[in-house]
Amino acid sequence: MIEQKYKMIILGPPASGKGTQAEFLAKKLNLPTISAGQLLREEVDKDSEIGREIKDYMEKGELVPNRFTNELVKARLEKDDCSDGFISDGFPRIRIQAKFLDTFVDLTQAIVIRVSDEEVERRLAGRRICSKCGKVYHLEFNPPLKENACECGGKLELREDDTPQAIHQRLKIYHEETEEVADYYQEKGILIEINGEQSIEKVKKEVFNKLKIKS
Ligand code: AP5
Repeated sequence: MIEQKYKMIILGPPASGKGTQAEFLAKKLNLPTISAGQLLREEVDKDSEIGREIKDYMEKGELVPNRFTNELVKARLEKDDCSDGFISDGFPRIRIQAKFLDTFVDLTQAIVIRVSDEEVERRLAGRRICSKCGKVYHLEFNPPLKENACECGGKLELREDDTPQAIHQRLKIYHEETEEVADYYQEKGILIEINGEQSIEKVKKEVFNKLKIKS
């Protein structure tokens, strides 16, 4: 049973484990995970009008303009299943988005997972994603039971923006624009800092401990 509302966001560089930890929290707290990147990728896959406009930004590892991202995320967070709480993975990632979020949500926690650039590059090379259900694996740190296959039977694939150029761009944007979003939440007194350079299980333990959730 949820005794407290959790309206939280997870910040961090690419491959810091935002999605991985968001799933643990979602399962434990029975809350939805809202991934801005996933919402945007769904638009691209649907080949919607928005999808066609944003595809190029995503493949290059650039930020998708706010006029698309803000409304997409807002519409998702205003759905009924988010009324008791949610975990937002990857939104906001610039100050202007953080201010936009403040206009319709009272965040309870902002988690930032810290990881070095070298570790990001190591992790992205080994990441594989299920083409059917979206589950995330790592060839070395979180391998699938069966080679190249998800537990649901789907085929595992590389993500389109996990190319060296796009990774470089995503890291650049993180340092230039997203890091200061953590400062914004520090000033508000809701920032929780996590050392992401530990095993997946140890990161999970640190997150749960700092949120005072029993694992
Ligand atoms: P998004 O999908 O959010 O990508 P990202 O921020 O680059 O983050 P990733 O999904 O790559 O990594 P993650 O931190 O979730 O790590 P994961 O758990 O998968 O965004 C994609 C794009 O969408 C952006 O580039 C932009 O174009 C657009 N976009 C998104 N949000 C936007 C916004 N707000 N505004 C504008 N545009 C936006 O883990 C990575 C790998 O490492 C996995 O293989 C995992 O198994 C492994 N791993 C995880 N934790 C550990 C650990 N502790 N030790 C070892 N391995 C680990």
